[in-house]
Amino acid sequence: MVIGRPLFTVAQIRERVTELGNKISYDYSGREILAIGILKGAFMFYSDLVRAIGRRITTDFLVASSYKDTESTCNLDIHYNIREDIKGRHVLLVDDIIDTGLSLNAIREKILEREPASLKMAVFLDKKERRKIDIPVDYVGYEIPNEFVVGYGLDYENQFRNLPYIAVFKKKT
Ligand code: IMP
Ligand code: MG
Repeated sequence: MVIGRPLFTVAQIRERVTELGNKISYDYSGREILAIGILKGAFMFYSDLVRAIGRRITTDFLVASSYKDTESTCNLDIHYNIREDIKGRHVLLVDDIIDTGLSLNAIREKILEREPASLKMAVFLDKKERRKIDIPVDYVGYEIPNEFVVGYGLDYENQFRNLPYIAVFKKKT
């Protein structure tokens, strides 16, 4: 297993997260945010992003793992669920990466059932060409090509999450 070339450096990540934080602060002017981090992948992006948002924020988390049922559906195992009341709140869902979109969509639908006042989504990376379902993503750090990446919270078999930068990951052949 090898860590390939860095795709985004620490400095690039910091700069982009600051931009996203400023945009979100502007968009949520006068509103309180319920920021929900989807663990484990989002832990680094989430902690950087909430520090870059200059608004009143309530923090909560969802720990979930997903497995694909078929090509177009996925099943969610929820290990820890959101504890905050969602009804009437302005929810910002934060995840590390959107790929097919199936897992974020399943989480989104569960949250919508609980009647938030609004629901927006922020992801640091977007593999747009892999999308299987049309799902609105409001804040994207970077679009990336279809390559497997690790670092900044993203894992391969639960490792490499601690890399402070994002790198392409290649299995040695
Ligand atoms: P989706 O349901 O296909 O959008 O899956 C999204 C999830 O797949 C993410 O939250 C990650 O856990 C995982 N994932 C997708 N692409 C990558 C990658 O390049 N590196 C690490 N994890 C990934
Ligand atoms: Mg994930």
